[in-house]
Amino acid sequence: MKRRDFLQNGALGMAGFMLPSKTAWNSTAASRAADSRIEVLFDEPLGTISPNIYGHFAENLGGVLYDGIWVGEKSRVPNIDGVRKDLIEHMRKVKAPVIRYPGGCFADSYDWRDGIGPADKRPRRTNFWANAESEKSPQNHRYDPNTVGTNEFVHFCKLIGAEPYLAANVRSLPAEAFQHWVEYCNSPAGSTTLADVRAAAGYAEPFRVKYWGVGNESWGCGGEFTAQEYAVEFRRYTAWLPRFGDDLSLIASGPNTDDWSWTREFLTELVRKGPGQLRRVYGMALHHYAWNLSRGKTQNWEAGKGEALKFDSVDWYELLREGERMEGLVTGHWHVLSEFDREHRVKLVVDEWGPWYRPGGEATPGNLLEQIPTLRDAVFSGMTLDIFNRHPEKIAMANCAQLINCLNNLYLAHEDKFVITPIGHVFELYASHQGGSALRTIFSAPTLHYDRDGKPATFWGLRGSTSVRDKSLTMTVVNPSTSESRLAEIAFRGATVKEAAIRWMSDPDIHAHNTFEHRDALVPQTKPLSTNDGALVVEFPPACVAALNVQLN
Ligand code: AHR
Repeated sequence: MKRRDFLQNGALGMAGFMLPSKTAWNSTAASRAADSRIEVLFDEPLGTISPNIYGHFAENLGGVLYDGIWVGEKSRVPNIDGVRKDLIEHMRKVKAPVIRYPGGCFADSYDWRDGIGPADKRPRRTNFWANAESEKSPQNHRYDPNTVGTNEFVHFCKLIGAEPYLAANVRSLPAEAFQHWVEYCNSPAGSTTLADVRAAAGYAEPFRVKYWGVGNESWGCGGEFTAQEYAVEFRRYTAWLPRFGDDLSLIASGPNTDDWSWTREFLTELVRKGPGQLRRVYGMALHHYAWNLSRGKTQNWEAGKGEALKFDSVDWYELLREGERMEGLVTGHWHVLSEFDREHRVKLVVDEWGPWYRPGGEATPGNLLEQIPTLRDAVFSGMTLDIFNRHPEKIAMANCAQLINCLNNLYLAHEDKFVITPIGHVFELYASHQGGSALRTIFSAPTLHYDRDGKPATFWGLRGSTSVRDKSLTMTVVNPSTSESRLAEIAFRGATVKEAAIRWMSDPDIHAHNTFEHRDALVPQTKPLSTNDGALVVEFPPACVAALNVQLN
């Protein structure tokens, strides 16, 4: 079964794989020679890291919206205007810049008009995901009560200080509905009937929503279009949209993973009406999930998946290999874009990324596509964010799939229980990259070797990314080895270090994760670093994601 079929229709055991103890790697640092080198090249800036690379995705799917984000104003769960308070507070802390909503596949079944006006008058509708829900799922996951609509979602974004990114329905609503959604959100107070409806709900001032997706996965759940057909629809849906003085940033539904032909054929058809058509496209979406842990045995969407909590060190490397493909996807699709857009106006928007495991590991039974992230997912996420940081000129936005109670979630929540997962902590470790100037950084470290079902396999030994803002430098580093620490000499070519500290996450158990009962099982630790003639020597423990904060002279 392929992913598109799944969407249409709705291990080896823990093996007690332990790493050396937390303290062991600290104590060995001074007594051995460095095995790795990191060189930061100040005279090779790569571009400004868009804060939106640290974006999120919240679909009306399973427990994301109802229970995850929305608890209701009258709930005993602490909330601000119906939105879970703990969530708002942590999202503010990680400086969440943008949130994509309402899907995902849900978007192309959604009628935004159902979600406005008095909440008790809104219709109940069958959720896109209803067929995939189980008997354990609550009613409002299957039948959408529309309690949360555009007003509530945009208000949630405002509470955090994030920009909303709305995905419009291209499969089952006409272009006119898209125009009216923009009008509802953005027309000035008192100017249109829809602005009056918005004002009646307490939102007189326009929402000024800037980011709009034109469908989602239009090659699959978003309409089963061919790339040519979708390009025709894209032209039609975007031929006229009301602007109200602000530019809209329109995001085209892009390829699934390495479907180069989608990118090429979409662009070929788009510019058949002339190269000016490219000006309509702010970004081309790219989706990549790391799901196939079969070690090359199958491409079957169900059979190829692994488990979230039960895995061995080979599964660990397999997941990272799948995630590592992101770098080639970014450069590959960028290459195709370059054939059409020499000026590089159109950027990539990686608006769904993360690992996807088989069902069964939900924190709350009945929450569709919920999985409990471990240290493996934290290392995966750090590695992915580093890839984005290394390509700032290509990537305008990225959205981790998904925010809460689903896939690569930053948070798990149920009723009054809330926990920050290791992914949430990674977003905190990486937050200071936002808006920084990325610097080329060369990592040299011993290659890792492992046994892939009797065949030798390798993986890189140490990688990361660096950015600088004024005198403050952030370097994030991933050590993917499940058993070896790396001792790295860090040289700063073009600056000297005043002081530095490291904040990292690792654990002797590669399965470490947080639960409602053990909320702090895996949290970042911090320590100052001593400098030696302006250079740093830093030990990265096995299975580690780390952030160095360096003050420069
Ligand atoms: O994130 C879950 C689903 O994965 C989304 O709805 C869809 O866009 C993708 O295939």
